[in-house]
Amino acid sequence: MKRLMRQCIENLTPYPPGKPIEELERESGIVGSIKLASNENPLGPSPKAIKAINENLSNIHRYPDGSCYYLRQKLAKKFGLPTDRVIVGNGSNEIIKLVVHIFLSPDEEVILPLPTFLLYEKAVGSFAGRIVAVPLSNFSIDLPAIRKAVSPRTKIIFISNPNNPTGKALKKEDISRFLHSLPSDVVVVLDEAYIEFATDPDIGSAVELLGTYPLLVVLRTFSKAYGLAGLRIGYGFASEMITDGMNLVRQPFNANCLAQVGALAALDDDEFVEKTLTLTRDGLEFLYSRLDRMGLEYVTTQTNFFLIKTPLGAGETYRRMLKEGVIVRSMESFGLKEYIRINVGLPEENKRFINTLEKILS
Ligand SMILES: Cc1ncc(COP(=O)(O)O)c(C=O)c1O
Repeated sequence: MKRLMRQCIENLTPYPPGKPIEELERESGIVGSIKLASNENPLGPSPKAIKAINENLSNIHRYPDGSCYYLRQKLAKKFGLPTDRVIVGNGSNEIIKLVVHIFLSPDEEVILPLPTFLLYEKAVGSFAGRIVAVPLSNFSIDLPAIRKAVSPRTKIIFISNPNNPTGKALKKEDISRFLHSLPSDVVVVLDEAYIEFATDPDIGSAVELLGTYPLLVVLRTFSKAYGLAGLRIGYGFASEMITDGMNLVRQPFNANCLAQVGALAALDDDEFVEKTLTLTRDGLEFLYSRLDRMGLEYVTTQTNFFLIKTPLGAGETYRRMLKEGVIVRSMESFGLKEYIRINVGLPEENKRFINTLEKILS
């Protein structure tokens, strides 16, 4: 019989998202649970975005501006690039997929750090690409090892900077040296979903390197620092050749009208971003100090999330925390069987997390 679904689609495994609070409460009857599993912004959305969205609700009978003209223009101005080098997506997830869609032919190779954000693997798998996984070195992306893994079949390299799920970031100088060492026909995607949170001054954005490496794609999102994960809006920068290609294959109305106005307003909400960064830094300080007191190992981060090694193991810790109404992320599916990942929450959520962890470990 004729095969119906493409083999590469049959080979895919479902993406394991962080458990939604509503699902936990529906399934278990627990009320008042907290979620620290999806690296979301605990403060809620940018207030300026909420206002703009409220003011535009009566326009949702219209199709959105398919070119995202005003948002692309504003992003271009902010980052000092021509508007045509900006692409907007239904979350940066969509742009990850667009890159793979326009460049990857079946059996071509894509290099990924291991572990890293699971959606790269999924995008590559759905276009029948081959994954070459390069293990991290002490939780950090190993650029020299990635360079060594480059072959004539290498088409794309994905680098999450900082890396999800380990929170470690690469220095701009090292990225620049790495890009200059590559053959000129390899597409490099630098996913900067969490770059706003980085505190190390040597960790700069690769946006400034776009002029030096024509096949560089830099991705950003409104989901984290701006608190707009549910709106689904992200953006990227690349050469016009690449943005033109992505525009040919993307859905014509990929960014909805509320997402566009919300993102536009959020870009002006410096106060909210500052508040988010302060909350994150204070939260990390609190969590690190309490984990030190408990004698637990953790991996210091440049993001709003980090890994904690737990003596119960990832799966068991996740299940026991869940019973107490605290949703964390088990790192089993990332191959880190002893680790959970949490994002920084509100101060009371951080305290509840620590108290619950103490309880289940005692
Ligand atoms: C490394 C990384 N890139 C991209 C994304 C997706 O962001 P978006 O919500 O913009 O699709 C995430 C979300 O968790 C992420 O961790």
